[in-house]
Amino acid sequence: MNAATLSSRGQWSTHMAFILAAVGSAIGLGNIWKFPFIVGMYGGGAFILVYLVFILIIGTPVMMTEIMLGRRGRQSPVGTMQTLAMQAGRSAAWRYVGWFGMLAGFLILSYYSVVGGEVMAYVFRAGSGAFENQTADGIRAILTRLIGEPEKLLAWHTIFMVLTTIVVARGLRLGLERTVRWLMPALFVLLLILVGYAMSLKGFDQAVDFLFRPDFDRLFYLQDSHGRFVLDDEGQRIFTWTPVMVAMGHSFFTLSLGMGAIMVYGSYLNREVSIFRMTLAVVSADTVVAILAGLAIFPLVFTAELAPGEGPDLIFLTLPLAFGSMPGGAFFGTLFFLLLLFAAWSSAISLMEPAVAWLSERHAARFDRAAAATWIGILIWLLGIVSVFATSGTTLRDVIEPVVKWLGIDGMDFDSRVFSLNLFNIIDFATANIMLPLGGLAMIVFAAWFMRSESIQAEMAMERTVVVRGWRLLIRYVTPVAILFVFFYRLVVSVQA
Ligand code: PFF
Repeated sequence: MNAATLSSRGQWSTHMAFILAAVGSAIGLGNIWKFPFIVGMYGGGAFILVYLVFILIIGTPVMMTEIMLGRRGRQSPVGTMQTLAMQAGRSAAWRYVGWFGMLAGFLILSYYSVVGGEVMAYVFRAGSGAFENQTADGIRAILTRLIGEPEKLLAWHTIFMVLTTIVVARGLRLGLERTVRWLMPALFVLLLILVGYAMSLKGFDQAVDFLFRPDFDRLFYLQDSHGRFVLDDEGQRIFTWTPVMVAMGHSFFTLSLGMGAIMVYGSYLNREVSIFRMTLAVVSADTVVAILAGLAIFPLVFTAELAPGEGPDLIFLTLPLAFGSMPGGAFFGTLFFLLLLFAAWSSAISLMEPAVAWLSERHAARFDRAAAATWIGILIWLLGIVSVFATSGTTLRDVIEPVVKWLGIDGMDFDSRVFSLNLFNIIDFATANIMLPLGGLAMIVFAAWFMRSESIQAEMAMERTVVVRGWRLLIRYVTPVAILFVFFYRLVVSVQA
């Protein structure tokens, strides 16, 4: 790549612009929709503790690595990995790390956009007072009316994808920077207002207790949505390693790691800033927002005497019910869904960026940025149709059975639990808990063992020696071992759940 192409890709106007964009990417549905529901499902405080350990020993070093790789390569993740590998005399096949990341990004955005669409619909539902004084059945009917009609969901998904594509098409400074400049402060203000409101509720203390008092039994033993332990035939509690794996997956998901989003943002960053400082800013903002989101949501849940372990519908069932029963609920409910929409939007932008950067760099003659964004947007929109149907309840069996029948294969057994899983949950689980950790693992292994050390030194020139040593130690030994250990334990030792 020559100097002219390099400069035409653009750079953030200031390092603050990078921080805002990366924070915008990190803070998303992951913090405000997913974090609260997984904390609720996996028992609260202990889960948060494990998650924080993973943020420290996995999230932070992986983010530093991604920024470093991106800033060194100055291309899309595919181009960056290939160039850096070849510079070090290694196989060009390292570019598949970039490809794998793009695939993960496509899959994530395809369902992210559907949830984003639901959120948009809920801004209007909340604003029109639809939740006020509703019964649980009434609230469920509102959700069913939305997700039970695929064309409605499809329409919202389409609007969300159009909004996202427009920002990406306008490019770094006119699109991404301008959008996150007002989106991020707005998001913080909204969140603080909501936490203030939650503090005035009587369920606040119970929520604090739930979030911050670790109870490891709740982490390691299977529970139902009300937090009661599930027992096996012999009356014993059932051990599960799934929550630990989910906590690890979430440390990748919430920080947008393992798929090249942060790498491509790093590729627009200048060399005069410290990677460690940038990482610290992003990781702290993301973590604070996740905890604040918990503090905004659980007091509502407990005040309305509802169950915290509802799963993905926590936001769409439990919360509207809670808002509907509270004074000022329509107003604060609307603010809440608006906050969620802003958070989702700025993350969706970053989910698209690696692929758009790749297409407009690799096929520059045919695709300018706007064209690249449009085509990628259309592709992800199409893929999202799967999630639209999945949200309406399609299971793996519904998809495979007709194909098997059509192929004329008889006697296939669909009784296994796997086939009754919702496709939406499968895509979410596989991307967040498997693909992102694997992508991140490949990146740190490359940086730790394959990359030219002069290149690393050049990128790390701004850092203090102790930071560089600590980071190296982590990415060489601690982080990969932690990731592999969680995988190994989940796959081999803990076979249940
Ligand atoms: N970090 C985003 C969230 O917490 O919602 C999700 C995400 C964005 C994941 C970008 C991965 C990514 F590359």
